[in-house]
Amino acid sequence: MMDKPEVLIDAEKIHERVREMGMEITEHYRGRELNVVCVLRGAIPFTADLIRYIDIPFKLDAIYASSYVGRESSGKVDITVEPRLEFTGENVLIVDDILDTGNTLSKLIDTFSKKNPMEVKSCVLLDKPSRRTIDITADYIGFEIPDHFVVGYGLDCDEYYRNLPYIGIMKDED
Ligand code: IMP
Ligand code: MG
Repeated sequence: MMDKPEVLIDAEKIHERVREMGMEITEHYRGRELNVVCVLRGAIPFTADLIRYIDIPFKLDAIYASSYVGRESSGKVDITVEPRLEFTGENVLIVDDILDTGNTLSKLIDTFSKKNPMEVKSCVLLDKPSRRTIDITADYIGFEIPDHFVVGYGLDCDEYYRNLPYIGIMKDED
């Protein structure tokens, strides 16, 4: 059951790209107020690595969103833990693991937009554009990937595999 998933993006490639993204984000927000919001739980490793390359002062918060049951997007997004910080007049950067159908990110953008921020942007490690049902794109994208169910580096299948240091493809029979 717990076979090692096939490598799609190795740890070194992830690290290199996350570093580049951190540098881009640093330049964009230099001299501005920034709140980085980690979407729990899938974006924990990505956020943890990314913030070490954001070389400006910023605040870190987290929000709890879930939509998946097993390998299927339920289409219904639950936000069960609200952010703690105030975002009025400030910039928000939502950090998630993957942009798939777009349900989660669009719900999160709506949620933050109601808090009267200056600007809401989004950052995802992975993007599966072929799966989109909502017309939405992220401002920062690590890697565009084909339509595979992937695990590792925070992404799970029934809560397992989040600890893999790479992004792997789940085989159908697993
Ligand atoms: P969306 O709402 O369909 O865009 O899905 C976004 C959320 O679904 C992500 O934050 C992930 O938690 C989860 N997800 C989407 N695709 C995958 C995948 O291939 N593997 C693991 N989780 C996924
Ligand atoms: Mg998630």
